Amino acid sequence: MRRARLECATLVVAFSVASKQRLTDRDLERFASDALFDRIARAVCQAGCLPRKELYEALGVAQRTRRRFRSGRIVDLGAGHGLLGQILLILDDTSPSAVAVDRIIPPSAAKLGDGLLEA
Ligand SMILES: C[S@@+](CC[C@H](N)C(=O)[O-])C[C@H]1O[C@@H](n2cnc3c(N)ncnc32)[C@H](O)[C@@H]1O
Repeated sequence: MRRARLECATLVVAFSVASKQRLTDRDLERFASDALFDRIARAVCQAGCLPRKELYEALGVAQRTRRRFRSGRIVDLGAGHGLLGQILLILDDTSPSAVAVDRIIPPSAAKLGDGLLEA
């Protein structure tokens, strides 16, 4: 009788930062450190409402913006869940507040905001 042979191989799965797949609790272990980005990412995962690409885009825009503009008023237009405005506040808390403007503020925006406050 022919024996079954178990083949072992390493499967490398790329983690695309451009993915439109929603981040959820299943992704928490990808962001396990105490670094600021991972803490923000975990809050996004737990809110379970944003595509992965929006996390990376918001962080990139926030970092570039904060290199040029410190303090001052934050107005996040077409804000969706308001992630960009909130990251801008986190990166520089000398801005007193952020205004997030959208046609529709999604109900999960509040959940994301609460999670970021605890992050
Ligand atoms: C692609 S989403 C971007 C969300 C967020 N800025 C981000 O980067 O993750 C575009 C947002 O713009 C909003 N939007 C589009 N036209 C708008 C308008 N005329 N006034 C207010 N918000 C608008 C939509 O409702 C949507 O939430």
